[in-house]
Amino acid sequence: MSWSRAAPSKLPPSSHHRALQASKMPNTCLAVSLRNPDLSVIHLGTVLEGITVFLFLCDRWDAAEGEHMQNLKKVYNSKETKLVDDLQLFLFEVISQTAAELFTLQISVVALVVCLAGLVWSLDNGLARTPPMGWLSWQRYRCNTDCVQYPDDCISEKLYMRMADLLVSEGYRDLGYKYVNIDDCWMSRNRSKDGSLQPDPVRFPNGIKSLANYVHSKGLKLGIYEDFGTKTCGGYPGSKFYMQQDAETFAAWGIDMVKLDGCYTDVSDMDEGYPIMGFYLNQTGRPMLYSCSWPAYIKQKDFALYQKIAKYCNIWRNYNDIGDSWDDVSGIIEYYGKDGGNFSKVAGPGNFNDPDMIILGDYGLSYDQQRVQMAMWAIMASPLLMSNNLETVKPESKALLQNRRIIAINQDPLGIQGTRIVKMNGLEIWVKPLAPKGKSIAFAFLNLNHGGGPSKVSYPLNKLGAMSPQGYNVTDGFTGKLIGTYKSKDKISVNKDTSETKEYVK
Ligand code: GLA
Repeated sequence: MSWSRAAPSKLPPSSHHRALQASKMPNTCLAVSLRNPDLSVIHLGTVLEGITVFLFLCDRWDAAEGEHMQNLKKVYNSKETKLVDDLQLFLFEVISQTAAELFTLQISVVALVVCLAGLVWSLDNGLARTPPMGWLSWQRYRCNTDCVQYPDDCISEKLYMRMADLLVSEGYRDLGYKYVNIDDCWMSRNRSKDGSLQPDPVRFPNGIKSLANYVHSKGLKLGIYEDFGTKTCGGYPGSKFYMQQDAETFAAWGIDMVKLDGCYTDVSDMDEGYPIMGFYLNQTGRPMLYSCSWPAYIKQKDFALYQKIAKYCNIWRNYNDIGDSWDDVSGIIEYYGKDGGNFSKVAGPGNFNDPDMIILGDYGLSYDQQRVQMAMWAIMASPLLMSNNLETVKPESKALLQNRRIIAINQDPLGIQGTRIVKMNGLEIWVKPLAPKGKSIAFAFLNLNHGGGPSKVSYPLNKLGAMSPQGYNVTDGFTGKLIGTYKSKDKISVNKDTSETKEYVK
């Protein structure tokens, strides 16, 4: 199986699976010496040529990671980072580009290679220290490629330029909404002769680099969409077999974020393939925020999987696509409330769960429901990627999208994902610790009852984790109004109305 340049037809069909099998060998510790005279054949970096590589690995490498790294460092002594990087690339290539003679390497060696690849590299691009904010075309504009009938609403450079202009002129950029993200259907149906991705020539006549320049000139960043499989979900060329080339293309175009979707592939390939794309993005030297759809395609997700994902991706979708509806918003909130696999615990600076786009300003939500989405995405430390027509967003929606206090909760530097601590009779209480740690918290009372008639809810502050003996100033997150000063054992009371969120912050 290849995720890089080699033509799929040249690959030994079962190599990937054999490697995976072998990597599951019980408790074997091996030292392997690889003097490989054929390195140039597989286009390795010069660093590896002619050197002897010792790998010390156990299949329990996860438990003994530190030890393996030390062994590796002893061997390489100097320049280890570069060497390990190159070695890793080599290992990927062994798996992916293996010409018949190279594949005569012992399968156990290939297995070790797989382990090492997982072992030595992790995403550390300095990005997404807080949840990314911006605009993304998918929910509002989907795959509309008909620029004749819909000149203003089709996926085209004009659309992204117009949204970039509006992010600036309507004041969104200065509040942190920096990314302008292209989603599916931007490409030409075919790659160019040399295998490069190319945008649709009619809808993007000036090319993506020129669009990136435009977006950058406005103080914004440009995101793009691709897919890990052979095709995007919309049927355009996917990155499988072209990962390195695509990463390099994105870097050359000046891309700042890459969303890698997961259609048209075997799901079991993802946990090797997504890290590989991350590796190639990293290799370009251009910081590109890496958004993975990987977990959204995996049914059973446990904490170990989330830890792995967080090691390789900046943000990741883990649940269904959002549509323009309250059912979708409330379904996502419920999924995040359940927190299956404790995914909330892997969120933090550099890594965030992505419950999908903000749909404020569209048509599906009432005003109160828009308040809920905004408040809950803030409490959940979620990326704030709006998908709306910024030209027609109503003033009340815009005020919510631009509420500085809500944004500050979302962008809190601790990056802690808030969790649900109470769910009772349709009422939920969510808490998110804020900086300075131990002193401030944000909490939300979320009422999902559809029955009418207000009623009062009271809850003691200390049960929300507000334990400071000095007490707390409690402020309404939406209005900034001081609700009062409370001791930690005091109860906070709210009137709950239908489908509403009240959000407070010290
Ligand atoms: C998937 C993703 C969506 C969007 C579409 C594009 O469904 O989850 O967010 O990118 O593909 O085809």
